[in-house]
Amino acid sequence: MANVYAKRPVVIVKGRGDLLWDQDGKEYIDCTGSYGSCIVGYCHPRVVQAIKDQSEKLTSCHGFMYNDSRSELLQKITRIVPRGLQRVFLSNSGAEAVECALKLARKFTGRKEIIAMMGAYHGKTFGALSATWDKKYRDPYVPLVPGIRHVPFGNIEKLKESINAETAAVIAEPIQGESGVKVPPEGFLKELRELCDEKNVLLILDEVQTGFGRTGALFAFEHDGIVPDITCLAKGVAGGVPIGLTLSKNEIMSSLKVGEHSTTYGGNPLACAAAAATIDVLEQENLTERARAEGQYFISKLKDLQDQHRIMREVRGRGLMIGVEARFEVLDLILGSLKKGVLLLDAGRNVLRFLPPLVITRQHIDRTIEVLDEVIGEKERG
Ligand SMILES: Cc1ncc(COP(=O)(O)O)c(C=O)c1O
Repeated sequence: MANVYAKRPVVIVKGRGDLLWDQDGKEYIDCTGSYGSCIVGYCHPRVVQAIKDQSEKLTSCHGFMYNDSRSELLQKITRIVPRGLQRVFLSNSGAEAVECALKLARKFTGRKEIIAMMGAYHGKTFGALSATWDKKYRDPYVPLVPGIRHVPFGNIEKLKESINAETAAVIAEPIQGESGVKVPPEGFLKELRELCDEKNVLLILDEVQTGFGRTGALFAFEHDGIVPDITCLAKGVAGGVPIGLTLSKNEIMSSLKVGEHSTTYGGNPLACAAAAATIDVLEQENLTERARAEGQYFISKLKDLQDQHRIMREVRGRGLMIGVEARFEVLDLILGSLKKGVLLLDAGRNVLRFLPPLVITRQHIDRTIEVLDEVIGEKERG
């Protein structure tokens, strides 16, 4: 396998809910959610059953034919999304969902430029990478897609200055995940929506990490009472099975003509069955509300911990998308926690990131806090 992942020394063989087990049977509380993709928990029985049932019926069906599993998912999706995001393109990953959004923006408006945010992460295919900010991802691959400029995240004045007659769209994450769980200033998204309306520019919100209940709302943009023109989803939508969705208004999606965009596996029946079951679980187990309540609890416990450890600089986030900025690199904390049975993510060198399955229990949050207390204490003493 290509050596492109910063590997952790662990071989995972089984998962249930918010727990994972390695090949020696050791149990881990998972605060990574496999980079946020395991929203409803590992191997949720309802998702497993849906995959089993579908796998006995049909596992592949290209988009040139209609399919019952796909249409069931599309009906469910269009029932839960806000009005104005009723048309869907189905793909297989977050980056693909972003590619489609960027192409849509150009095609619909006939303009060429996209404004993205400093600190943004939208994936690593060429278009998505061109909207991504970090030099370490971009520099080896220049020249990238032309016409994409970056402005400071959260700065509406700079955005105003940068929009011109060639601007097709502004793309942003409602909360920046990869660059350190950065929450924009209060009211920014609303101002951004107003600005895009005023300038007749499309607003693309990338909800690949924030979407599907993660922040305590189905979409993070709901906290600000706005609806974008285009949004991107992936990660948790199919309960851990690969899927990507680009959603937009009817007239925007209608600008794509037959053959102008496609992917062989988009709308795959297995992924669609898993996603339809995931939506049922999300609704029936009230996981969005759970993310809000447990997120508040988790954040309050982390803030208590911050009072005891001055090397924790800031605790921030929304729902179960949480970042802890430390005054040093966090890799030692991640490796120390792993030894003690808690899996954590980083976001940059000095931010710990928590994207647990939304089913994480109070008991496991408490245990995570205990382990963090221990590993931070060890680091401070060492
Ligand atoms: C906001 C955002 N957009 C896009 C992506 C890319 O998704 P994928 O890794 O599925 O291509 C990610 C992945 O972390 C993400 O966080």
